[in-house]
Amino acid sequence: VELSTQNTLGLACRAQSLILLHNTTQLSGLTELARQFPQVFVLGGGSNVVLPPEFSALVLKVEFKGIALADDLPDCWLVDVAAGEGWHEWVCHATQRGWRGLENLALIPGTVGAAPVQNIGAYGVELQDRIESVTAWNIPQGVLITLTRAECEFAYRDSIFKRAAQGTWLIVSVRFRLLKVWQPVLQYPDLQRHFRIGAADTAMPTARQVFDAVCAIRRAKLPDPAELGNAGSFFKNPVVTAAQHDALKLTEPTLVSYPQPDGSYKLAAGWLIDQCGWKGRRVGAVGMHARQALVLVNYGGAHAHEVLALARAVRSSVQERFGVELEMEPVAPAA
Ligand code: EPU
Repeated sequence: VELSTQNTLGLACRAQSLILLHNTTQLSGLTELARQFPQVFVLGGGSNVVLPPEFSALVLKVEFKGIALADDLPDCWLVDVAAGEGWHEWVCHATQRGWRGLENLALIPGTVGAAPVQNIGAYGVELQDRIESVTAWNIPQGVLITLTRAECEFAYRDSIFKRAAQGTWLIVSVRFRLLKVWQPVLQYPDLQRHFRIGAADTAMPTARQVFDAVCAIRRAKLPDPAELGNAGSFFKNPVVTAAQHDALKLTEPTLVSYPQPDGSYKLAAGWLIDQCGWKGRRVGAVGMHARQALVLVNYGGAHAHEVLALARAVRSSVQERFGVELEMEPVAPAA
């Protein structure tokens, strides 16, 4: 089965076997089936993966659909969303229904089921801030489990689902907790500029306006995977100690960094990569995007090995120049 249209980087990938899951009754057969393959890989929207050209895995594509209000509580709505729903479509739907709180996460590619795996985040909001629980099928054990938010062990672009061995969890649905008392989250610099926060005539934007602003900001900076293959940010923003940050800041006064609650600092990986001269630089079929150096793009026909070679080159530049280690954000399963 050819998966080149099933991953947003647009990498050619031929998998041994692909199963589309439309119905949860299909889950019980997976445990037995999985034993017959060297590996199992759960695919959502394919927006955070670097797939190998020949893939020995049993690929499971989750297509469960449905959005249902599970509970209307005095202070919040609890909404169950099936894993196969498109993330952005869900955010649109919620914003239209007046369920606010997800607007900062507009236009992120991928599915609802993939969102908890890397705890997607943008413009000051992370998925973990809006989640009640996740229901997932444990493939090796053949059991359906609901994990509370705490049990998901969310961290920056990380969760128990991402840390578990590949092929362990298949997320079936996500329960959101959306508070009825809402306040826009606008501290992110791009949003401050957009809404001219601090100017005398600033009015409090509605959720719809924040949604539109986030869409406009993303469209201006991030390439549309339909036009230019990419997997969003290719590296995580690295976290360094205060001492390391202060030392760097002395030699690099324009360093972009964000203080963290625990005293450490998150550095803008895009800035580090940009400073190393990678912004807009192309190597064969791949390159780092001209408007956002953190986004690795496929100009067409790239293979996983070229993507990973560029990633290694970028990492070593940043390591050499700043002494900072970059960690890849997408998952790169073995062939
Ligand atoms: N910057 C540069 N040069 C560049 C790119 C960025 O100097 O080529 C500077 C920018 O000027 C800015 C800073 O770096 O001062 C941060 O850039 P940006 O606001 O674009 O955000 P980011 O830190 O690169 C993160 C997330 C994005 C998310 C945005 C908005 C990570 C790894 N990435 O990017 O998430 O949309 O913030 O919240 O945390 C993703 O994970 O795939 C993703 C797109």
